[in-house]
Amino acid sequence: MRAVVVRPPAAGVALEDVPAPLLPPGAVRVSVLECGVCGTDHDIVGGRYGRPPAGSEFLILGHENLGEVAEVGAGVDGFAAGDLVVATVRRGCGRCRFCRSNRSDFCETGDFTERGIGGAHGYMAEEYVDVPAYLVKVPPALRRVAVLLEPLSVVEKAVFQGQRVLDRKEPTPGEPKTGTPTALVAGTGAIGMLAAFLLRVRGYEVVGVDRHGDDTPAAKTLARTGVAHANVLAGFDVLGKRRFDLVVEATGSATLDFALIDRLGPNGVLVLTGIPDADAPPTPVPGGALLRDVVLGNQAIVGSVNANRTYFEAGLRDLTVFEERWPGAVGALVSGRQPLEAFRDVLTTHPGGTIKMVLTVRPGGAAGTAP
Ligand code: BGC
Repeated sequence: MRAVVVRPPAAGVALEDVPAPLLPPGAVRVSVLECGVCGTDHDIVGGRYGRPPAGSEFLILGHENLGEVAEVGAGVDGFAAGDLVVATVRRGCGRCRFCRSNRSDFCETGDFTERGIGGAHGYMAEEYVDVPAYLVKVPPALRRVAVLLEPLSVVEKAVFQGQRVLDRKEPTPGEPKTGTPTALVAGTGAIGMLAAFLLRVRGYEVVGVDRHGDDTPAAKTLARTGVAHANVLAGFDVLGKRRFDLVVEATGSATLDFALIDRLGPNGVLVLTGIPDADAPPTPVPGGALLRDVVLGNQAIVGSVNANRTYFEAGLRDLTVFEERWPGAVGALVSGRQPLEAFRDVLTTHPGGTIKMVLTVRPGGAAGTAP
């Protein structure tokens, strides 16, 4: 079968013929429809991240996925050919209590693998095989947007973690209701955009910031969902003295991470989702002043990575809500769909204004909506 392969730690990417996976009993064969491309893929192709499976000299790339069940192995119930499915990414170590309960996003040994990223083949191939525990069935009505379910799952988890900290601000029985909570989302890539949508649905007043004007596809889409947009290219002073209950970071810039601490309100929480470059030059920060305010303000900084299937399931419910509330807004995050043959261009360039590029592995799929 054809697959997009990388050989980390070497930079580079190729479309190659590789053996199709065998279908063991208890597993499902999935025909891949499309794969989203994200910063992690760019980092792997650039030789900065990623690891082939043990014993393999290459890694099949791709973790943001949508496919159609092609064949159901012996002993599998609840799946049929033609079902749309999205697969989760992380596979647990099998030893820690989190991995043993399908919550490998909180793995404590670090011995997990991630399909398409580290130690396990991904989904940028004609087919893959996996077991039902990792496959989330998608209703046909979400065919056009379900490739965004994996990034949304990451957002669902991040917002949930932040919310858990913020729950301490909830009124106790008998106290009057509090006002509208406020959120700042830093970054308007797919993660930032989906975070903004989710926070609107959760009742937050939301400001989204990036380093562009109001005329980009991202800023225009935010406007449709009632999110205020600000260009912080010249610094955060454009926000005046505003502070927020929840700040969600989705850029991977360590410098920005520190700047965002300063935007936390009393008892607020900053959730970091972007993965900073460990080899970036050191970032000078006014550590004393920042951390003093963190302590005196009861503030929290939480990192959040990956997502287990419960967040994929939450994401499915919210994709439906987004579609009902702002028809077409989620679809607008897909800046373009390209055939698999365009892999090199899509994986090595990032044209301005692009939110999410998608590689079409096989057009069609349930609901017959060929891209
Ligand atoms: C993926 C996560 C993964 C993380 C770290 C992200 O791009 O969406 O599933 O855990 O990279 O490898």
